[in-house]
Amino acid sequence: MSRLLITGGRALYGEIGVQGAKNGVLPLMAASILSGGVTVIENCPRLSDVDAALEILRHLGCEATFENGAVTVDSSAMTGWEIPDTLMRRMRSSVMFLGPVLARCGQARISMPGGCELGPRPIDLHLEAMRSLGAEIREDGGNLILEGRLTGGRIDLATPSVGATENSMMAAALAQGTTLITNAAREPEIRDLGRFLESAGVRIHGAGTSTVTVEGGKLRPFIRYRALPDRIAAATYISAAAAAGGRIVLRGVEREDLTSVTEAFTQMGVGLTFRSDTLEVAAPGELKAPGTVVTRPHPGFPTDAQPPLMAACLRARGSAAFVETIFENRYRHVPELRRLGGRIRVDGRVAIVEGPCRLRGAQVEATDLRGGAALVVAALAAEGTTRIDRLFHVDRGYENMTGLLRSLGADAERIDGKDT
Ligand code: UD1
Repeated sequence: MSRLLITGGRALYGEIGVQGAKNGVLPLMAASILSGGVTVIENCPRLSDVDAALEILRHLGCEATFENGAVTVDSSAMTGWEIPDTLMRRMRSSVMFLGPVLARCGQARISMPGGCELGPRPIDLHLEAMRSLGAEIREDGGNLILEGRLTGGRIDLATPSVGATENSMMAAALAQGTTLITNAAREPEIRDLGRFLESAGVRIHGAGTSTVTVEGGKLRPFIRYRALPDRIAAATYISAAAAAGGRIVLRGVEREDLTSVTEAFTQMGVGLTFRSDTLEVAAPGELKAPGTVVTRPHPGFPTDAQPPLMAACLRARGSAAFVETIFENRYRHVPELRRLGGRIRVDGRVAIVEGPCRLRGAQVEATDLRGGAALVVAALAAEGTTRIDRLFHVDRGYENMTGLLRSLGADAERIDGKDT
């Protein structure tokens, strides 16, 4: 099992580049099969989730490679339309391939997704959207089979689901006619998928707003696109500098995409200075609790940045309240943070941090991707050494986190082992 040893108490200084967005790159990789040609996606982080998406593409019969930070997909010989259970289980975002496979092949088969670390994650909105475009859906021994030549239609999403919006946009890009998506999610990664499709020749309007229209058609046979920076990784490194102290510069950030995150850190007294595409983060002598942080769909505070921010709040004076409105089970890192000395009460969707807490190194376990990031943040601020087990969760979403933290002066050591 891979693990991370961090001896806390060292302030962070220096400059790092922020990786390309995991949640941006995964839908782009799925969208790469729409053209039937070659797609190059630049600024791809090397992550286990990206490796899982590469495997799905190869399983479908595409040529897919990762080289020098770019993924190249040639989908001209693609014939597959089934995603096996093993690949579906490896990454929940596999459901992102549903729309593109169905649109390209006229059929798709996936296994029924189960729950995940964050609680039940249904796909009813994805299925409903495909139905609105003319797909027929049936169940067959634990698998879902979707069939039909897609035609444009109206998709009214009951909740602004990020994945369902992306699946709808990708399927609509090859459907015949125009599709209207209402109550669409507005996350920056959706705006980016819209730009990708537009650069491929699709006529699409409103991606990144709650109403999206897509005119189906053909995509250009060669697409080169640069993925946007990872706002959650940026939020994580801001949290790390806030908790550990010091002054760091993050290269390659989009200011507008970080508004709700920077608001919270500004309330905590963290100095944030944007210059073109860099952000300087200066930790104050003492952090203040940010008041109440409610996770909401974009442009609200992102649920993925809640765990690392909570870890930084352990070092802040006063009580910080968190209200998690997106996922049911998003406080799994709390018991682990308590092991490090965190005083946190949880009551349903609300968590209250009573800071400042004296943090001491301990043996803890990453419970999920962002929960693992929270443990890293807390460990950087703790006295003594913390051992974080089950690091594979963190590897799903952070490229070379240990190397980046070391370059900022952290005492961090990764021990690679076999994951079971
Ligand atoms: C994406 C992100 C994830 C982030 C989440 C919320 C990717 C790869 N992942 O996940 O990191 O935490 O957005 O910002 O981009 N829901 C339904 N039925 C559905 C689909 C969703 O009820 O068919 C519910 C979910 O249970 C959840 C809410 O809608 O409560 C939001 O989920 P959604 O926006 O779909 O998240 P993902 O796209 O899975």
